[in-house]
Amino acid sequence: MKRHTPVLVSKTIEVLHPQLGERFADVTAGYGGHASELLQAVGTNGYGYLFDKDTAAINALTKKFSTCNNVSITQADFGKLDWENAMPEVDMIFADIGVSSPQIDAPERGFSFSQLGPLDMRMNQGQDLTAYDIVNAYSQRDIADILYQYGEERASRKIAQAIVDKRQNSPIETTHELAEIITHSTGKSGKIHPATKSFQALRIAVNGELEALKNALQQMPNCLSLGGRIAIISFHSLEDRLVKQAFKALCTPTRDGFGQIVSPAKFIAVTKKPIKGSEFDVNNPRARSAKLRAVEKIN
Ligand SMILES: C[S@@+](CC[C@H](N)C(=O)[O-])C[C@H]1O[C@@H](n2cnc3c(N)ncnc32)[C@H](O)[C@@H]1O
Repeated sequence: MKRHTPVLVSKTIEVLHPQLGERFADVTAGYGGHASELLQAVGTNGYGYLFDKDTAAINALTKKFSTCNNVSITQADFGKLDWENAMPEVDMIFADIGVSSPQIDAPERGFSFSQLGPLDMRMNQGQDLTAYDIVNAYSQRDIADILYQYGEERASRKIAQAIVDKRQNSPIETTHELAEIITHSTGKSGKIHPATKSFQALRIAVNGELEALKNALQQMPNCLSLGGRIAIISFHSLEDRLVKQAFKALCTPTRDGFGQIVSPAKFIAVTKKPIKGSEFDVNNPRARSAKLRAVEKIN
């Protein structure tokens, strides 16, 4: 299995500025790269609550932190988690959203069009819905909407039409079959593979990624101590937009109809602009599209 190289680690530590004895939640703990650094920084009197929805990641985390008694590891979807009951108030919340290298690189997980595998794409292997179900059972219109909304794919209708035409003969089973249908229907070629946006869209739909992020963004502020920090790394514009909007709302005071402040902003921005992986983590290809944003609770 290929190792996961965590992105923007030193910048994450810089914006979260962990202190000895503090508690943190890493809700996408993956292979524990960021969590290790945070644990080291909070020391043995600190505590880490680690979550991930992927069984393989949970197994790897359990092994990695087997000798630490200041860590708890829970398999959960951060979008479905009842945050306030899942952990006590914490001083830092961290999320590094998206897929890990071991997920993408395992052909049997079906995330990648460049490797032959089943149309799966589930981060949580216990979930029912797979990419196969969407591709082979959803209506042409629903498939087109998914490709357009989650992949910003302009050829969404053409691709959906080609998928539905093809599946009338026999189900579409593999990543390569689907990539081939997409390539053929768009007639596109170039540096970026024509199936890139559609695969991203299907992955987002299978895993309910945007809904999970929206739910989590609502709950995070309530689980944070005064002075606590939230840092989120996102990998595409749809996610980054949600983070940017939620953080902006947290950092904006409430005003009455006359423009008078009725309650001050609860947070301040730690990052005025997103910290870009393309500028600060140039040796890690996974970091190319990464954006890190952080806020601090002041009220
Ligand atoms: C980019 S990796 C995180 C890597 C991690 N920071 C590290 O250093 O190893 C993203 C992880 O988030 C997990 N994930 C994505 N969405 C999730 C969700 N809604 N709930 C819980 N885990 C999620 C994935 O399973 C994956 O392991």
